[in-house]
Amino acid sequence: MENVTILDHPLIQHKISLLRDKNTGTNEFRSLIEEIAMLMGYEALRDLPLKEVQVETPIETCMTPMVAGKKLAVVPILRAGLGMVNGILSLAPSAKVGHIGLYRDETTHEPHEYYCKLPDPIDQRTIVVTDPMLATGGSAVAAIDFIKQHGGKTIKFMCIIAAPEGLKRLKEAHPDIQIYIGHLDRELNEDAYICPGLGDAGDRIFGTK
Ligand code: PRP
Ligand code: URA
Repeated sequence: MENVTILDHPLIQHKISLLRDKNTGTNEFRSLIEEIAMLMGYEALRDLPLKEVQVETPIETCMTPMVAGKKLAVVPILRAGLGMVNGILSLAPSAKVGHIGLYRDETTHEPHEYYCKLPDPIDQRTIVVTDPMLATGGSAVAAIDFIKQHGGKTIKFMCIIAAPEGLKRLKEAHPDIQIYIGHLDRELNEDAYICPGLGDAGDRIFGTK
């Protein structure tokens, strides 16, 4: 099964174009990230298992499906992945939230871990890892390495913009995960920024520089 899905719904594409605009301010940028995560989550959670439960309607008793089985965990890669969490929680409010703190070294572009806390039992959960940007792929690969070391098995990675270089690296390192992308951009520049991209996602979400 092809494990990469490009979620090219017109609403997602429209909102990504607004994100790219350098004149989009912090408040709107943050809202757009959350809305896109919600729209992407709707598709990415399409395979959640259902079970039939008994419900009494005002008319009669019936069997009707509800989400069952595996519990959900949303795991943002700090900082920028945090911006996507509420979008997914608006669809699945009882999901637990873990955190993985990584930052990219500005010279080597390699990720460094500074925090990891995951909800138990992680091995029994469907885990949605969020990060708006998949650039070299170093951060996503390292985050999923950590999750697997902690016992995580069923993993979906969701990003808003990906570079071909990062997608290739992530697919090679973790061929068993599902990858959801809003838009596949052209390439990385010499500073490992995505082109055309949207700049530094963390800085734009949190208003830092
Ligand atoms: C950004 C982004 C990803 C990473 C992608 O985070 O949010 O985590 O870069 O780059 P990569 O694919 O080359 O690893 P950054 O390290 O800037 O940290 P921040 O979210 O705290 O700003
Ligand atoms: N991280 C970002 O926030 N933006 C990029 O273009 C690359 C990495």
